[in-house]
Amino acid sequence: MPSVFIKTYGCQMNERDSEAVAAQLVAKGYSLAKSEATADVVLLNTCSVRDFAEQKAINKMRNLVGNARKDRPGQILGYLGCMAQSRGQELIDKLPDVDLVLGTQKFHRAAEYLDELLAGKRTKIVDTATEAKSEATIREHLLNGSAKTSVSAFVSIMQGCNQHCTFCIVPATRGEERSRTIPDIVAECRELALRGVKEVTLLGQIVTSFGKREVTVSNGKSGFVQLLEAVHEIEGLARIRFTSPHPKGYGDDLVEAYARLPKLCESAHIPLQSGSDRILKLMHRGYAREKFTGIIQKLRQAKPGIGIYTDIIVGFPGETEEDFEQTLSLCREVEFDNAYIFKYSERRDTPAAEMADQVPQAIREERNERLLKLVNEIAARKYDAFIGKQVQILVEGPSKKNAARYTGRTRCNRIVLFDGSARHQSQIMDVKIERTGSFTLYGDPAILE
Ligand code: 5AD
Repeated sequence: MPSVFIKTYGCQMNERDSEAVAAQLVAKGYSLAKSEATADVVLLNTCSVRDFAEQKAINKMRNLVGNARKDRPGQILGYLGCMAQSRGQELIDKLPDVDLVLGTQKFHRAAEYLDELLAGKRTKIVDTATEAKSEATIREHLLNGSAKTSVSAFVSIMQGCNQHCTFCIVPATRGEERSRTIPDIVAECRELALRGVKEVTLLGQIVTSFGKREVTVSNGKSGFVQLLEAVHEIEGLARIRFTSPHPKGYGDDLVEAYARLPKLCESAHIPLQSGSDRILKLMHRGYAREKFTGIIQKLRQAKPGIGIYTDIIVGFPGETEEDFEQTLSLCREVEFDNAYIFKYSERRDTPAAEMADQVPQAIREERNERLLKLVNEIAARKYDAFIGKQVQILVEGPSKKNAARYTGRTRCNRIVLFDGSARHQSQIMDVKIERTGSFTLYGDPAILE
């Protein structure tokens, strides 16, 4: 049977989609190749969120095409996911050696299409059509890959986004919001728990809008909070996380859920994007600075020690020095545990790309560096505050760099390394933090009664 190698770019949703495709192919008898050089099929699961991500995948494909021509005749090459969806046929027009372009609603068709290509029944396949119910097709899990992945699993709960932020290409790549049903998601999580998974991360482009149209609000609880409650009931699961939310989804029902549901980990990745009300409005984010800081305050009250992470864009069209300083001041005020900073990147067919006053690249760079410096200073201080503390971790497996070290995550989503062995695998245990490294805590298994 053929072998396949899948390389993934971008977010956790993309990782999850790749895993589901791999599981689907393994179920059909494919093997997973260790590298692209030995694979019969190479698939690039792509990201479109910034131009840089697209260029990386296109350059990779160029290399693959060159090597396939030289050394690997017959190798099937394909693009999957977001860039496949937004560029479609154009990708084959640019690189005619590419055989397959599969959009974000068609991952479940991968095996069928690869069979046709491998058998020579078809020579090129492009499928980027929409498909009803495709949100419920990302459900197969590998888990039997590395031990590292088997204790924690991603579960896709919804697809698409209707927020239409002016900078964002996601509505074009992932389509309209569609949610799976609560019983369907619970069934998948229960099955994962039976297979030894202790932590699930619920995934979607805007998870807090889960069930907006499909689930009726009950006792003031949104569909998303109802889903959290249902997943919380599952025996064997110890931890629940989710990503990505939208700040507008943090109503009191969700804030209270943190206090009420012990399995819901005290960690939140809440995208801010900008600290300036003027820019937030131009971005069409649907909240103001005050509202955002209010949410963080409430969350910290509900769950002291909660890890707060965020995404910020610098150099959005029209962003002045004053606007940027608002972002700096918000970061000083909120003290994020970490922030991912993105230089604004023009995306095709988005309103922001057409706006006047595009910020020169040099200024985007400069603001990126200034913000990074501030965010890193605060993050380092927050890391150092862990020294001497005892934290609970879920052990994921041996560290990639040093097999004598094991790696786990705190409930607030920080990576902890410790001297461990196979007996620690998949355990929930306490460690004492002894020192910090770059975005890592080093711990010692605490000696407990
Ligand atoms: N340019 C730069 N960053 C972007 N993001 C989304 N679209 C763009 C863009 N056009 C960032 C946002 C989002 C993260 C996943 O990527 O910060 O939260």
